[in-house]
Amino acid sequence: MIESETQSFHASVNNIHFRTPSIEDGLAVWRLVQATGTLEVNTAYFYLIFCEEFQNTCLLAEHDGQVVGVVLGFRRPKSTDTLFCWQIGVLPSVRGQGLAKQMLKAWLRLAGNESVTHVQATVAKDNPASDRLFRAFARDLGAQCNITPWLTSPLLPSGHSEEPLYDISPIGRQPSHKH
Ligand SMILES: CC(C)(COP(=O)(O)OP(=O)(O)OC[C@H]1O[C@@H](n2cnc3c(N)ncnc32)[C@H](O)[C@@H]1OP(=O)(O)O)[C@@H](O)C(=O)NCCC(=O)NCCS
Repeated sequence: MIESETQSFHASVNNIHFRTPSIEDGLAVWRLVQATGTLEVNTAYFYLIFCEEFQNTCLLAEHDGQVVGVVLGFRRPKSTDTLFCWQIGVLPSVRGQGLAKQMLKAWLRLAGNESVTHVQATVAKDNPASDRLFRAFARDLGAQCNITPWLTSPLLPSGHSEEPLYDISPIGRQPSHKH
């Protein structure tokens, strides 16, 4: 079902609307994560709760009522000026048009992300698209992208690529958008 839904979808990034999610979007987000083919898929329950509890620091991209992209983020409890990107994904049919970068920029402008000074994410060593995305995002902001080891082999199950930490800073003051 998911496959046919996503395969039949084609759109340009022009008519895309950004908003924060609610618990009602949890299932659509879970399906989108499956459709990316790369992201580690958590349970549907996880996405329902994430969309509810971290609503103000997450962003959906919608086209004609369909979720075509998502940024799932939270402010790190130990360092609340740091915004952590847990997962970002775009449907295969709308990739390569700058949508992920637009999403990250809109995500930074959310009211819930005001006064953030650092953006962080981990990027698997075998994910060049993600590596390029975060480097390009940092470059466009005029920020540094510092990459340090974090989730190394001893911490991960066998066969899982290491995930260095990407730390992007400084993040300037973003005018906030209420969604
Ligand atoms: C990573 C992902 C979100 C990028 O989405 P996208 O909308 O295609 O990205 P954009 O078009 O905004 O491109 C952003 C930058 O990354 C580069 N890029 C994107 N996909 C790329 C690829 N497959 N190979 C190399 N570079 C790529 C673009 O050229 C651009 O860089 P530039 O500004 O220097 O030209 C998308 O490929 C995806 O959903 N992948 C599966 C999920 C995933 O791996 N998420 C990241 C881990 S959390």
